[in-house]
Amino acid sequence: MIELKNVSFSYYLPEKVDVIKNINLIVNKGEFLVIIGRNGSGKSTLGRLISFILEPTEGEVLIDKKPKMEIDYLDIRKKIGMVFQNPDNQIVSQIVEEDVAFGLENLNYSEEEIREKIDDVLNEVGLIEFRKFPPNFLSGGQKQKLAIAGILVMEPQYLVLDEPTSLLDPKGRKDVIELIKKLNKKGITIILITHRMEEAILGDRVLVLNDGEIFLEGNPEEVFTEVEKIRSVGLSPPVFTYLSYLIKKENFNIDIKLWKLEEIKKEILQLKSKI
Ligand SMILES: Nc1ncnc2c1ncn2[C@@H]1O[C@H](COP(=O)(O)OP(=O)(O)O)[C@@H](O)[C@H]1O
Ligand SMILES: [Mg+2]
Repeated sequence: MIELKNVSFSYYLPEKVDVIKNINLIVNKGEFLVIIGRNGSGKSTLGRLISFILEPTEGEVLIDKKPKMEIDYLDIRKKIGMVFQNPDNQIVSQIVEEDVAFGLENLNYSEEEIREKIDDVLNEVGLIEFRKFPPNFLSGGQKQKLAIAGILVMEPQYLVLDEPTSLLDPKGRKDVIELIKKLNKKGITIILITHRMEEAILGDRVLVLNDGEIFLEGNPEEVFTEVEKIRSVGLSPPVFTYLSYLIKKENFNIDIKLWKLEEIKKEILQLKSKI
């Protein structure tokens, strides 16, 4: 469990700019937490605070009830991995398998253990047949999966992903999201920062950040059916949720729902049976 207690973060530019303001948050083991918010709302900063990459200006971040100074730095880096927008900035080697091995250096594994771990994660992310290829041969989505593999090899418990699909084409986005879902099912805690609503609805819990504060929090249904609130902070709810909101506003008898694809299908089938 990662716990943020009254966490604030400011940049000094040189005058003080408060980016994160007194946030209290618990990230439970195994959950899929999504963080959304308009540009500049503090998402990346919050992601870095959760990952122990940044230190709070005020308050504290605990992992399994322990503050940073009580834990070995290497232990934190192994427990919490962070993936960024641009896979090119995260790939360091000229060969796919060497890139995965990079994080294992200095960790005292035997060559055989390293070999085994690389095989496992390349299989997991679906890149095993590219092991001897240069990363530049890969598509954007595959590169992002390679970046994720480089973190997975450390066997993290928590994975923080900061808009990992925003530079990818639709196929790459789909593949990376499928991988994230699979990793969560395997027990890895996911903290996904995104601006895509179709990704946000995949979470167990959604946190809406506005101006460095938690503005809304709940499961996707609870958060996104607050259509007016969501729109007031510069975000759009998922398109069908918004559509049902507009129809209801015109006094038609319809519930505002999250409208996942299965719900839409069910609704259409019911309509069909009435005709
Ligand atoms: N390295 C930095 N130095 C100074 N200000 C920064 C830095 N990084 C981010 N900021 C400022 O902090 C605020 C929040 O940024 P960020 O956490 O990147 O938001 P988001 O990811 O939601 O777009 C923005 O106003 C941004 O300009
Ligand atoms: Mg950001």
